[in-house]
Amino acid sequence: MSVTVRVPAKVNVQLAVGAARPDGFHDLANVFLAVGLYDEVTATPSPGGLRVTCSGPDAGQVPLDRTNLAARAAEALAARYGRTPDVHLHIAKDIPVAGGMAGGSADGAAALLACDALWKTGASRPDLLEICAELGSDVPFSMVGGAALGTGRGETLTELEVGGTFHWVFALADGGLSTPAVFREFDRLTEGTEVPEPVASPQLLKALAEGDAHALAATLVNDLQPAALSLRPSLAGTLAAGTAAGALGALVSGSGPTTAFLCASAAAAEKIAETLSASGTCRSVRVTAGPVPGATVL
Ligand code: C5P
Repeated sequence: MSVTVRVPAKVNVQLAVGAARPDGFHDLANVFLAVGLYDEVTATPSPGGLRVTCSGPDAGQVPLDRTNLAARAAEALAARYGRTPDVHLHIAKDIPVAGGMAGGSADGAAALLACDALWKTGASRPDLLEICAELGSDVPFSMVGGAALGTGRGETLTELEVGGTFHWVFALADGGLSTPAVFREFDRLTEGTEVPEPVASPQLLKALAEGDAHALAATLVNDLQPAALSLRPSLAGTLAAGTAAGALGALVSGSGPTTAFLCASAAAAEKIAETLSASGTCRSVRVTAGPVPGATVL
């Protein structure tokens, strides 16, 4: 008996970042969109105890110890229901690792849902979302999917209506970027300045609700982008190449280094992906669309 859960990646169409809080986190206005790049997590009983394995082209970069969010999710659920986490979690990884697309968070949400089904814990949706929030700021969104506004440190979600499908090209970079390091660079770059309270853009929410890609492109914004570019200056060349290829809008995805290009149609996305791929400014490209549903038992 085993349970497999499929879980999507995300892009932040708006990532407004406030000043560092006393606990080191930053208040955010974080507009998440789930997009169709997926990891699959399979949970199988393991009498020998908790075990994590991973397959996929970048599997070598995924930690298989207790720092993996999938392992931590299984432990958190087991602790809450007074059982031992005797489970083998296999991650079939397609979401870029340390790429700013919430791949680790996705695996946490997927493992939680898979273990809940395997162990028949019958946890309520609010219980699962509470565990997600404890695991990390982006984990609740990986569970919920679709589109949502995240406030607080990103974990408090308001689901958003989306009036259409948005077409994207993602350019993958060599190596990852550490999210804490990017936030630290944000702090360094904004030191001595007044960082405004993060607020969701009404124009951006309207563009999402109307499914208007041109309007959305005009409002895309990521306050972490200067920090990601500061740590990885070559990303500027990738952004420029995608824009020159005809993308409606371009931005760094989350804390990077993946870059995201909003396109007018699926056909436009295919063409832009080809041009970007030939530009020599990225490791590889992926074409996909969103919104898509969150973590789902297959
Ligand atoms: O919540 P999560 O564990 O995914 O966050 C990873 C790191 O990113 C945090 O340790 C912190 O350095 C940074 N972060 C932040 N403010 C947020 C979310 C994350 O500073 N709202």
